[in-house]
Amino acid sequence: MMQNTLSVQNLSVSLRTDSGYVPIVRDLSFDVRKGAALGIVGESGCGKSMTALAVMRLLPDSAQTSGSIMLEGNDLLQLSEGAMCAVRGARIGMVFQEPMTALNPAHTVGKQIAEGLRLHKGLSSRAAIEEAGNLMDLVGIPNAGARLSDFPHQFSGGQRQRVVIAMALACKPDLLVADEPTTALDVTVQLQILELLEKLIADMGMSLIVISHDLGVIGRLCDDVMVMYAGQAVEKGTVADVFDAPSHPYTRGLFGALPEAQEDIGARLYTIPGVVPSPFALPHGCKFADRCGYVVPACRDAEPPLSPGKLGQLARCIKVPEVVA
Ligand SMILES: Nc1ncnc2c1ncn2[C@@H]1O[C@H](COP(=O)(O)OP(=O)(O)O)[C@@H](O)[C@H]1O
Ligand code: SF4
Ligand SMILES: [Mg+2]
Repeated sequence: MMQNTLSVQNLSVSLRTDSGYVPIVRDLSFDVRKGAALGIVGESGCGKSMTALAVMRLLPDSAQTSGSIMLEGNDLLQLSEGAMCAVRGARIGMVFQEPMTALNPAHTVGKQIAEGLRLHKGLSSRAAIEEAGNLMDLVGIPNAGARLSDFPHQFSGGQRQRVVIAMALACKPDLLVADEPTTALDVTVQLQILELLEKLIADMGMSLIVISHDLGVIGRLCDDVMVMYAGQAVEKGTVADVFDAPSHPYTRGLFGALPEAQEDIGARLYTIPGVVPSPFALPHGCKFADRCGYVVPACRDAEPPLSPGKLGQLARCIKVPEVVA
């Protein structure tokens, strides 16, 4: 039997704005298998970060959330804020695009890594600092012990992201959520951080959600992939199936838009004509219709359900046979 670390069912998130509630994430369901890595990919504005924030229960107060987010059998949406605090850091670790958002410039990195260990694992200050040194070593910071008393500004961008990864891993979480973990870094450093994440996944056996606009990152790190468009999953499956036979026109667009010459991870830019629809003005029926080369009038009648793709995946399109032909 396949076991899931995280199981998200029918997650919807709306944000209150001056013009009422706008739907940002719509009826989203996905699983993160135990010990596996799920990639979430899509252009900017598709709702990837809002999905991650919903899992962490870090959405703005103006957000309205429904559905369920089961972590090892407990619905995170039903937990008290106190219980959720214990989950954050201890059972789910987070890494964001910009490491400084996770670091306090006024405290040494040793103190910051040790804090979670004292708080969640009850380690003494001395034991926590010692473990912080081990973690800095694990994430590849040279001369780790001597750098515990340095402040974040004394590290390079790539090293700061390593420190954040050490903080996220400190309590050996069941799940690590990494939202564009390499996007803010320069290309050589991106590869180093990817290699580090690859190694950590292999060594620690935790589950992972990696959010990226870059299919190269997803292909390297992930077992499963969910393609998001306009707040919804438009294709879901294993990386092997989705990369071999993308079955939704949007996924094909993402692959087709990868310029062959641009080998550098992170340097790729998507060039699908048109833009992601605003959550304030979602079109009727298929949300991709205005940009789709396969569109027929029926596409605009109703939102297509997820249906079988070419291999084992699901695709939210009524023309899958034509798309994969
Ligand atoms: N505080 C906010 N108020 C209103 N809309 C927001 C807010 N934050 C994000 N959005 C909208 O939510 C949508 C999804 O955003 P996000 O999850 O950040 O996308 P992604 O991470 O895929 O780039 C976007 O259309 C964005 O404009
Ligand atoms: S349902 Fe129609 S418009 Fe939407 S992706 Fe499929 S073919 Fe394109
Ligand atoms: Mg984002």
